[in-house]
Amino acid sequence: MRRFNDLADLSIEELDSLLELAGRLDRKPEPRALEGKVLSLLFLSPSLRTLASFQAAMVRLGGGSFVISPEMSIHGLESRDGIVMDGPAAEHIREAVPVIASYGDALGIRAFAERSNLADDLADKRFKELAALSDAPLINMESAINHPCQSLADYKTMDDLAIPKQGGRFVLSWAYHPRPLPLAVPAATVHMAALRGMDVVVLRPPGFELPAATMHKARKAAELSGGSVTETADRRAAMESAHVIYAKSWSSTRHYGDQPGDQALREELIDWCVDEPWFENAEPNCRFMHCLPVRRGVVVADRILDGPRSVVIEEARNRMVAQMAVLYRMLKG
Ligand code: CP
Repeated sequence: MRRFNDLADLSIEELDSLLELAGRLDRKPEPRALEGKVLSLLFLSPSLRTLASFQAAMVRLGGGSFVISPEMSIHGLESRDGIVMDGPAAEHIREAVPVIASYGDALGIRAFAERSNLADDLADKRFKELAALSDAPLINMESAINHPCQSLADYKTMDDLAIPKQGGRFVLSWAYHPRPLPLAVPAATVHMAALRGMDVVVLRPPGFELPAATMHKARKAAELSGGSVTETADRRAAMESAHVIYAKSWSSTRHYGDQPGDQALREELIDWCVDEPWFENAEPNCRFMHCLPVRRGVVVADRILDGPRSVVIEEARNRMVAQMAVLYRMLKG
């Protein structure tokens, strides 16, 4: 494996094999598998789980890693093209990426969406530009429109919990957040659940529809897997017999890049905070999923996060386990 950028790049057999390897490495550790190997990690956006889980995964496989982020660089990092660098930044991303890559055997990059131009973000323009600066094996640690590591971990979490594939009902719900957030997790998640063969319902208020291209990609995956993808603004209809609700906030696609327009829509939606009444007509043990970090009392009530429905810690731990499999495939050969 040279690139881990999108679950859509994997065949069903490759995905199953990766998940099987993740489970095996968790049950039967191989602490020397990647001895002498180095993973270079470039974080252009903040992280807790991705940063810690990749470092832990490399150590558990006998390798090592290092992290570079603009906050820790004494030089300052410039990423604009064609700029005269007479400001505070003394290092350009065009040199930084190949230099960082040259110290390792694989490179992970995180670069969130710029959220000014929807077409650019849907095309993952910035991530592709960064990826083109090196020919090292590459891992997408979250880009404008994808988060494949999160999706692989979430897929495994549902397998671990024996949540049904065919006939399993997966509700991806928009939730309130004070700021517009990227589309990467919802876009990756709707595709992942469709790929898993589930009946996926995107629950969102008007103005927060997922982009047509994102829904189209998920529906293509559902055609292959035997699942389905629908969308609604009707909470009760969406939650009927649901096995999972996956909450996430995202930007208004109607007002993408227009913060006042987005704000005017979202400030009316403060009651989109997942709480027990949401589960009234769901399956009795319907699970709550979220990629974290999550704002308590804003996105979800404490009693859900702290109660038996929540599997957010299992999802976060599976980040490390799933990434061990990705690293093993990429670096062990
Ligand atoms: N879920 C996730 O990617 O978490 P971080 O942003 O903390 O890495």
